[in-house]
Amino acid sequence: MESVFTSIFTKFEALLNQNYELGKLLTETTQLLKREVSHYDWVGFYLLDRDTMMLVLGPYTGSSTEHTHIPVGKGICGQVASSSQTMVVQDVSQQANYLSCSMDVQSEIVVPILKDGSFVAEIDIDSHAYSPFTKEDEEFLAAIAERLSVYF
Ligand code: SME
Repeated sequence: MESVFTSIFTKFEALLNQNYELGKLLTETTQLLKREVSHYDWVGFYLLDRDTMMLVLGPYTGSSTEHTHIPVGKGICGQVASSSQTMVVQDVSQQANYLSCSMDVQSEIVVPILKDGSFVAEIDIDSHAYSPFTKEDEEFLAAIAERLSVYF
C-alpha cells in the first residue's frame, strides 16, 4: 500500500479498536476517508436488503442523494452488488448504466464487502476529479472492506 494510504489505514485501525457499533463505525469511516483523501468527495455505504434485493443507503458523508434505494443491477452500485467485483469508473459520462447524484461527479469507485464470500454491502466513493483512481485506491479500499466485513 502506498505510504499516504498506509497512514490513513493506521487511523482506520484505530477506529476499529474503539468497539463502536456498526452504524457508528461506518459513519466514522466515511468521515475519515473524505477528510483524508482529497479526491474523495462523497463517501458512503450501501447495504444489501436480501428480502427486496435492494441496496439501501447507509452512513455517508457528502451531499444528500436521491438514490437511497438502488435495485441490484442498476447503476454502478447495483452492478457491483450483482458481480461482487470492484468497479472503477474514471469518467462517469462513459458509463451507460450510471445513476447520477450530482453534475459535479466525474468519477466513481465502488468496492464490495463480502461476508463468507457473499455480497453484503459496498463502499461507494464519488470524485469531482476526472480519472483520479489508481491501483493504490483499489488496494486500500479492498483492505478496508475486508476489515469491515467481520462486523456484518
Ligand atoms: N452513482 C451511483 C449511485 C449512487 S451515488 O453515487 C451516491 C451509481 O451509479 O450506482
